[in-house]
Amino acid sequence: MKNFVAGLVLAIGVTGVAQAEGDATAGQQKTAVCAGCHGVDGNSMVPTFPKLAGQGEKYLVKQMVDIKNGDRAVPEMTGLLDNLTDQDLQDIAAYFAAQKTSIGQAKAELVEKGQALYRAGNMATGLAACTACHGPSGEGNGPAAFPALSGQFSVYIAAQLKKFRSGERANDGDSRMMRDIAAKLSDAEIEAVSSYVSGLH
Ligand code: HEC
Ligand code: HEC
Repeated sequence: MKNFVAGLVLAIGVTGVAQAEGDATAGQQKTAVCAGCHGVDGNSMVPTFPKLAGQGEKYLVKQMVDIKNGDRAVPEMTGLLDNLTDQDLQDIAAYFAAQKTSIGQAKAELVEKGQALYRAGNMATGLAACTACHGPSGEGNGPAAFPALSGQFSVYIAAQLKKFRSGERANDGDSRMMRDIAAKLSDAEIEAVSSYVSGLH
């Protein structure tokens, strides 16, 4: 698995997906409409609206493009990105990436199970460790566009894992990386790992 991930990271690096070149100051002025749901600094107050603060720039651009194209369904954002150019999206991503994520608190009784899954996966089901792609502190992998999970709302994380598991969210590409991971997760495992990452930093 480690080799697979290393190879993948390398492949993405070599094929050279264009590097995002955003201007955070210009981006801030374009986020007024986003603030109502995601917070002025990208730290949303509502657990179904994901925090964008401190998220990787490249990942943010990819998600906005996917949402705009309809490759990822976010009904709440219908039409909001339609009039934004690629440069606008890069500027917005640069702004949110530069903000500091607020960290939550994992449920004490779920830490042990959540941490074990996050760091070691589950041998019995062949589940890969999250840490391989999302990093030991949940910081993600910027160049590979693997998202940061650190501090993200557990409610949002759990919802995404269930959407990947059902295939409702399928914008993880032909490699099906997250759909394959989520397919191996039970509801109890989703609850534990989601709680764990909300406090991880
Ligand atoms: C009415 C509320 C609302 C507004 C306004 C809104 N969003 Fe969202 N956004 C959401 C919801 C809800 C989701 C996640 C949906 C899901 O998949 O569960 C989301 C997801 C996202 C994501 C993906 C985050 C991730 O971790 O994958 C990005 C990026 C994003 N929004 C950017 C924006 C930007 C930029 C704006 C302003 C131009 C904006 N949003 C305005 C509700 C909103
Ligand atoms: C082989 C690499 C890899 C592994 C291992 C992996 N992920 Fe992911 N994960 C990804 C990628 C790539 C994405 C982004 C997909 C996309 O572009 O939408 C992602 C996205 C996510 C998201 C959505 C984040 C957001 O902001 O919407 C969550 C939640 C997540 N992963 C949780 C996990 C958990 C929990 C584990 C361990 C059980 C795990 N991942 C293991 C590669 C991986």
